Amino acid sequence: MRFDIMTIFPDLLESPLNEGIIRRARAAGILEIKSHNIRDFALDKHAMTDDRPFGGGEGMVMKPEPLADALQTVSAERAGGHVVLLSPQGRPYNQALAAELAEYEHLILICGRYEGIDDRLADYIDEEVSIGDYVLTGGELPAMVLIDSISRLLPGVLGCENSASRDSFSCGLLKHPQFTRPRVFAGREVPEVLMSGDHQAIRRWRLAQSVKRTRVRRPDLLAGAQFSAEELKDLRAEGIETSGLRPETTEVRLDVALVHYPVCNKNKEIIGSAITNLDLHDIARASATYGVGTYYVVTPYEDQQRLAMEIIEHWRQGFGAVYNPDRGQALAKVAVVDSLESLFKEAGNRGSRYHVMATTAAHGAATIGYNQARQRVAAGERTLLLFGTGWGLAAEIMSQVDDVLPPLGGKGYNHLSVRSAVSIILDRLLASE
Ligand SMILES: C[S@@+](CC[C@H](N)C(=O)[O-])C[C@H]1O[C@@H](n2cnc3c(N)ncnc32)[C@H](O)[C@@H]1O
Repeated sequence: MRFDIMTIFPDLLESPLNEGIIRRARAAGILEIKSHNIRDFALDKHAMTDDRPFGGGEGMVMKPEPLADALQTVSAERAGGHVVLLSPQGRPYNQALAAELAEYEHLILICGRYEGIDDRLADYIDEEVSIGDYVLTGGELPAMVLIDSISRLLPGVLGCENSASRDSFSCGLLKHPQFTRPRVFAGREVPEVLMSGDHQAIRRWRLAQSVKRTRVRRPDLLAGAQFSAEELKDLRAEGIETSGLRPETTEVRLDVALVHYPVCNKNKEIIGSAITNLDLHDIARASATYGVGTYYVVTPYEDQQRLAMEIIEHWRQGFGAVYNPDRGQALAKVAVVDSLESLFKEAGNRGSRYHVMATTAAHGAATIGYNQARQRVAAGERTLLLFGTGWGLAAEIMSQVDDVLPPLGGKGYNHLSVRSAVSIILDRLLASE
């Protein structure tokens, strides 16, 4: 994984990046970390990176040009990095967000200083992250917090592969108490069970201790934890009250996107297609039936976006809502977006990344079968299912997706309407038996 750090104090990061586990991971080539001095991109001879705020007020603000130039230079070297601004106004950082960010191959971390950065840099930033409700003098320590916590989740960084997954927070619980030699310290003995060599008993004891600790110290965390039937049984055997604990459920997180641009026409040329009332209604109804999160209609054309919104609003708030409220409920699933890029960016802002699966009527392109796809979705993987209009999704989209599903049918004629294909594929992926 690669980190690029944009800072005006690169020396601040030198020592933490060159000690212990991070140093070893860098030496092993698992981590590539580069600091960039924003001052090197300053325009004037004094290398100024800050200026007075328009409208007056306290402090200084980081100028937009040096940081924009620094970001462009990093992107020119390697495109596609996920840009994170460290900011007290960002999304609160926790272990779950660390795990989400660890999915990226390349993170670009911007360390603010002074009163923060010029707000017009927003277009250069994918998301903002705060390490807590307090204000620091700069983003370097928060950047280090991200690098440290994300790195230890990467395969090969920690000595023992399982250590990170058994940490506090990883499963919504604080870690159990731990002991090492000597067996008796200050008159206190190590709990007997840990000497027993009975691994099942040790596992049960540790789980019970974790629940007890979390209940006392962080009851807020416990509300988010889930327990398998076996764990609940073990906890009861250990005398732990389980009535308030949540049994395990896997939430399906599948969204659908119907792409109107870029798609192909029958001559394989790139075109944009018109939205249809039929697709809006029927795919929204299928989405509601199968528990899809959001049905995205992707069109860059403003008149088409307006038309889609008018139809949706008619059924959600207009006469349609009175005439047939169920239809409004289905159409509430629809969101209109101008491009797949903005959809991915929005998902990134929410801190989540999609496994993108494309559908096609063409034979020979499939990379995943329906059974395997169904298992991935059932395991709770955040999935975006792409459908094309016209003669199908453009090659530029197909080349970017994670997987392609096989075409439906098999009797020669394969010209299903897209809304039929959506219903069939949703049934294959989401139907309860
Ligand atoms: C003094 S702070 C600016 C605070 C800003 N005036 C505000 O009230 O939101 C300077 C920089 O430190 C970093 N920073 C400060 N506190 C942080 C936190 N809790 N989490 C992440 N970054 C923080 C940010 O990069 C920020 O731009």
